[in-house]
Amino acid sequence: MKVKNKVLSVLEDNRDVFVSGTELAEKLNVSRNAIWKAINSLKEDGYDIVSAPHKGYLLLDSNDLLSKEAVSLFLDQDFKSCPLHIYKTLASTNATAKEMALNGACDRTIVISEHQSAGRGRYGRTFFSPDRTGIYISFILRPHITFSEATRYTIYAAVATLDIITKYSDIKPAIKWVNDIYIGNKKCCGILTEATADFESGNVESLIIGIGINISTTVFPPELSGRACSICNPDINRNEFTAEIINHLFNMIDYIPFEAVLRTYKRNNLVLNKNITFTKNGSSFNGTATDIDAQGRLIVRCGNEDITLNSGEVSLENIF
Ligand code: BTN
Repeated sequence: MKVKNKVLSVLEDNRDVFVSGTELAEKLNVSRNAIWKAINSLKEDGYDIVSAPHKGYLLLDSNDLLSKEAVSLFLDQDFKSCPLHIYKTLASTNATAKEMALNGACDRTIVISEHQSAGRGRYGRTFFSPDRTGIYISFILRPHITFSEATRYTIYAAVATLDIITKYSDIKPAIKWVNDIYIGNKKCCGILTEATADFESGNVESLIIGIGINISTTVFPPELSGRACSICNPDINRNEFTAEIINHLFNMIDYIPFEAVLRTYKRNNLVLNKNITFTKNGSSFNGTATDIDAQGRLIVRCGNEDITLNSGEVSLENIF
């Protein structure tokens, strides 16, 4: 670890408290000059660090830059060793994660970016990812599953994210099948799962689960305004929030049976027992969403028949 990262780690651990240059130098076994250089470099990166004669350095609590050091502070012990990559900007964390997976990155590698210039959404859409006002995170998972079982990981991700958003939102969020999270009638989070597969065996080689959450974005492009929203809770510390998502997702995958997660997913789904419209094979349908099956498929009663949807998008009245 570089001196700069070590200094950041100590300051993150002591937010809003002065740590003297001497103490830092002794703790890290480097010169005071090395500390001074590290502090300057952190300031250049955008960290709000106050320097005061005879007191030392203090990282302001208002500081909200994502860093490996700060996220790690809040990670459960079991997950502190997961490879965690944090970038200032990327085209897409899913694209980078996919590339890493193809190059052999291990299970539970995590890729985060403060900004995405070409965030990917479902169906080739883009995901608006402005700098420092959201959380854009991708997980590389390597479960031993077949392609058709991959949906359950999206469901794990949707429920894990829902739980953490619920903790910070005044209004109870809900999932809109398949995997969008809404607060009221606007979307605050989207999830995109991509897979690389071994086509001969039909097994998944890697799953990339990308989650984009609007934390404090207030200005959206015209096509999204009126449809998108943010959690907008000034108490959110994005480093802590990110770690909570990681902890919760991994703990759920490790310890909570899928059937239980599916029950939560269904209980918190916006579409069940509602009248919905959707298109299938180019035709438009209208019906009542009656159930979500064990594969995460939506069952819709249309007239006298049940139509099963594997994926796709459904529309509900007044939900944008
Ligand atoms: C959707 O709403 O259609 C899915 C949006 C998924 C966005 C996230 S942001 C992190 C990850 N990287 C991407 O490029 N996309 C996903």
